[in-house]
Amino acid sequence: MLPKPAEWQEFYAQFKRKTGLDLDLYKANQLQRRIISMAGQHQCKSLGEFAQWVNASPMNTEWFLDRLAINVSELFRNPEKWTEMEKDILPLLLKSSPRLKIWSAGCSYGAEAHSLAMILDKKFPGSHRILGTDIDTAALNQAKSGLFSKNDLRCVPKEYREYLVESGAEFQADERLKKYLSFQKGNLLADRFETGFDLIMCRNVVIYFTETAKDELYEKFFRSLKPGGILFVGSTERITRSGEIGFSAAKPFYYQKPIAGEKAWRNAS
Ligand SMILES: C[S@@+](CC[C@H](N)C(=O)[O-])C[C@H]1O[C@@H](n2cnc3c(N)ncnc32)[C@H](O)[C@@H]1O
Repeated sequence: MLPKPAEWQEFYAQFKRKTGLDLDLYKANQLQRRIISMAGQHQCKSLGEFAQWVNASPMNTEWFLDRLAINVSELFRNPEKWTEMEKDILPLLLKSSPRLKIWSAGCSYGAEAHSLAMILDKKFPGSHRILGTDIDTAALNQAKSGLFSKNDLRCVPKEYREYLVESGAEFQADERLKKYLSFQKGNLLADRFETGFDLIMCRNVVIYFTETAKDELYEKFFRSLKPGGILFVGSTERITRSGEIGFSAAKPFYYQKPIAGEKAWRNAS
């Protein structure tokens, strides 16, 4: 199958009418390869035929949404960044906000949100709230269940293993973490964002988005953060227009929204 540009535009337009998700904001090459492969799995001979299948039932639409982006994740992914989170970032944020409001944007099956909940519960217990959002319903259901595979545990530091209880072939996150966590469906490319976040984690999500979509997203995150709040991005990601948006970036992969009148990056120590 080699669809023409007009066929792609028709597919995107139909999908946007149906779900509100604008596929034009995803990198075209990567996305179109995935769509062609999905159409092949359903023996569709044209993009039009696949569009009919995708739109035929909510279940089909969910199936498509769940496969749009890879939802690979892991507890304590890039462990050195989580050490910084524990030693520098959380103490810094807690100085001005005793109850942290945190967002894991593009949370997949909740590994990032659970990693943070473990650190908070063990080192800084309190009435903190971590919201996880994603477009992938199946991943969100797994996040809500708190079940992880053995592979997810590769990078979990010893002191946090007590939060993961072996249950058959899987590991169940400890009940103590539940009070911090909530998960809900959310589209980063269309939804209105909540405000007042102390910390937003958006890692390994924007790799799928066009440059324009990324720029807009980072501006929206900036507006959603409290002054002094921090945006945590993936370990291959850089915000090229960070200064223009207003962020200060004194630590790699952590960007701070400055507090008016204060030096941009305040050291936690
Ligand atoms: C590779 S996972 C990242 C998981 C986690 N943040 C991490 O770094 O381990 C990318 C996630 O982005 C989600 N995603 C893709 N497009 C999205 C959108 N428009 N809105 C919300 N989530 C989206 C996918 O469903 C997928 O679960």
